[in-house]
Amino acid sequence: MGPGDLEELIKGLELYRDENTLVGVGDDAGVYAYGGEVYAHTVDFITPVVNDPYLWGAISTVNSLSDIYAMGCEPINALAVVGFNNCELEVGVLKEVMKGCADKLREARVVLLGGHTVDDKEPKFGLAVTGVCKGGRYLTQAGAKVGDLVAITKPIGVGIITKAIKEGKLTERDVKHAIEYMLRLNHKASELALSFANACTDITGFGLLGHAYNIARKSSLRLVVDFSKVPVYEEALFFVKEKIYPKGAVDNLNFLKEHLQGEGLQWWQTLLLCDPVTSGGLLFTFSEDLKAEVEKKAKELGVELWVVGWVEEGYGLKVVKT
Ligand code: CO
Ligand code: CO
Ligand code: CO
Repeated sequence: MGPGDLEELIKGLELYRDENTLVGVGDDAGVYAYGGEVYAHTVDFITPVVNDPYLWGAISTVNSLSDIYAMGCEPINALAVVGFNNCELEVGVLKEVMKGCADKLREARVVLLGGHTVDDKEPKFGLAVTGVCKGGRYLTQAGAKVGDLVAITKPIGVGIITKAIKEGKLTERDVKHAIEYMLRLNHKASELALSFANACTDITGFGLLGHAYNIARKSSLRLVVDFSKVPVYEEALFFVKEKIYPKGAVDNLNFLKEHLQGEGLQWWQTLLLCDPVTSGGLLFTFSEDLKAEVEKKAKELGVELWVVGWVEEGYGLKVVKT
């Protein structure tokens, strides 16, 4: 979604596709069958979200792997994508970024095969990742069903928090818990989703509502989000009311407006739901009949889970507050 989105940019182009293309442009990752196996491919890179280069490298790595997990697949190898200005920043900084990356890749058991560095005024870091879809199985943003519940696996409000850090109103030490969530791989959440979900994505730059809209759009249904069920970082609640939030939250809201029905929410509550997230959790829908089973399995896996809404007939999004 959004004007700069690749899906929009390629509209009307005659792209080459072959019979091995199972999921093309427009989902969290592309899916391609080759040699009897099914693979998922994605690339993602971001500007610094925290001041500590080690943490930035680690968070960006978790963020880049997330699109593979959102497809219910296992990442296996990766290529680094680096934008860096040697004149302005010491190479030691970049080494720290790579150290954060290496630690997370080891945790995820993903091999770094190479990468590419370009001279760039604004530093950027991320990965192109290949994953394998075990047994040929994968999840997409399509497939949500009427009566499904909508669940998420990490709190929201990261964009507001990082904005407050950039403005010097917070330090990284004040928001250790939010950073811990950003450092958490979506590996286990992916395992949970693959067992039960009808549709799945991860929450990143378009915010909770933007990514919920993607599922609504791909599934031709309406997703309802109950604000009172959504886990939000306390600091984000505080700063959004002080009118400190990233421009991206407003952009997301403006884009979604025409597809969004709202009841009884304050301006800052809707804005929170549109706050761009870095390294967010998964968002997936599953049949209400499976609720007890999903919650049991989540506990076993150690995955935090919040049921924040449901799927109904119609199209687009609705926000409510119960
Ligand atoms: Co994604
Ligand atoms: Co992505
Ligand atoms: Co090269």
